[in-house]
Amino acid sequence: MNYFNIASIPGDGIGPEVMNEGYKVLKAMENLHGGLSFKIEEFDWNCTRYIKTGTMMPDNGLDILKDYDSILFGAVGAPEVPDHISVWQLILPIRRAFQQYVNLRPIKLLKGIESPLRNKTEKDIDFIVIRENTEGEYSNSGGKLHENTPHETVIQNSVFTRFGTERIVKYAFQYAKQKGKSKLSVATKSNAMNYSMPFWDDIVREISRDYPNIPFHLYHIDALAAFFVLKPEEFEVVVGSNLFGDILTDLGAAVAGGIGIAPSGNINPEGDYPSMFEPIHGSAPDITGKGIANPIAQIWSVGLMLEHLGYSDLASVIMAAIEKAIEKGEALTPDLGGNGTTDAFGDAIVSEILKGV
Ligand code: NAI
Ligand code: MG
Repeated sequence: MNYFNIASIPGDGIGPEVMNEGYKVLKAMENLHGGLSFKIEEFDWNCTRYIKTGTMMPDNGLDILKDYDSILFGAVGAPEVPDHISVWQLILPIRRAFQQYVNLRPIKLLKGIESPLRNKTEKDIDFIVIRENTEGEYSNSGGKLHENTPHETVIQNSVFTRFGTERIVKYAFQYAKQKGKSKLSVATKSNAMNYSMPFWDDIVREISRDYPNIPFHLYHIDALAAFFVLKPEEFEVVVGSNLFGDILTDLGAAVAGGIGIAPSGNINPEGDYPSMFEPIHGSAPDITGKGIANPIAQIWSVGLMLEHLGYSDLASVIMAAIEKAIEKGEALTPDLGGNGTTDAFGDAIVSEILKGV
């Protein structure tokens, strides 16, 4: 029997609603596989806790998490708590302390989902964005001067280290090689950001020498964003800095059928710390409590987790089950044009899993 200890942080809003569907899928995986067992420990680290206690997680929160095999995350954010608090006190500390320097975001149009891009099918939209997840433009470096005076000045620094840039670029080339991809697309903006991006580009050129069979192409971020819309079929693996990757992946999620579907993995490739898997959407206060959130992003995130834990076959079962449930269309949530509930759609996916599709 293979036991996995999973820490779960459902978070706020629709986070706990979609997380429940993730649990159902893990249960189904145990039934399907026989030799697998998931022990899930849930943590109520969220904005409600912040309002009550003044902190998003306990002081020893990271210490508690570090021994788990993986972390499942829902979403955080509440209207009463400034977003920079919920993000900087919970998500970012986990990503940084656990060296989850790869943010993996599949952009794939699932069978049965309509892209807002006219004439694009699932053959055209199927790539992965690899986003740097620990430094770059989101660096917590900067300051304020002369606040509340006409001379008010703010500085927000970008921090690109050789170590941090090399490891993400290497990961991207290696990923392309391992998955048998034919090329790597790289986001840059070296025409306007004249220190950080030429440095980034140089490191790409250096690392590329170790991957002679993976040609790379540098795209300025503005042009790259346009190509995501005009010719998504061009892309297989895309690598970008923290900010560029963030924006690209929301755009990618949109062209692949919406934010309720898109999953992500925050990966510590060395396995020194647990990796964390979460939908890219937020807590969606506008639909919280209505029971209509799309559970696909959370369930696909469970799939990414299983793949990371070494069960690619089970991840494929989940993907096939999601596509089957979409195709049948009986319980689709409103964002996909149906009138199903989170719970019913989750059940529909689980029932396909148990058929062993
Ligand atoms: P959001 O992703 O929560 O919502 C954007 C829109 O997408 C809303 O109309 C929402 O109803 C819809 N939506 C999101 N997930 C959905 C799902 N599973 N099914 C159906 N519809 C879905 O982004 P928003 O409104 O900008 O942020 C709300 C809160 O979430 C904020 O406090 C924000 O800081 C936080 N947030 C947290 C993230 C995280 O936990 N990683 C990521 C993004 C935002
Ligand atoms: Mg984002």
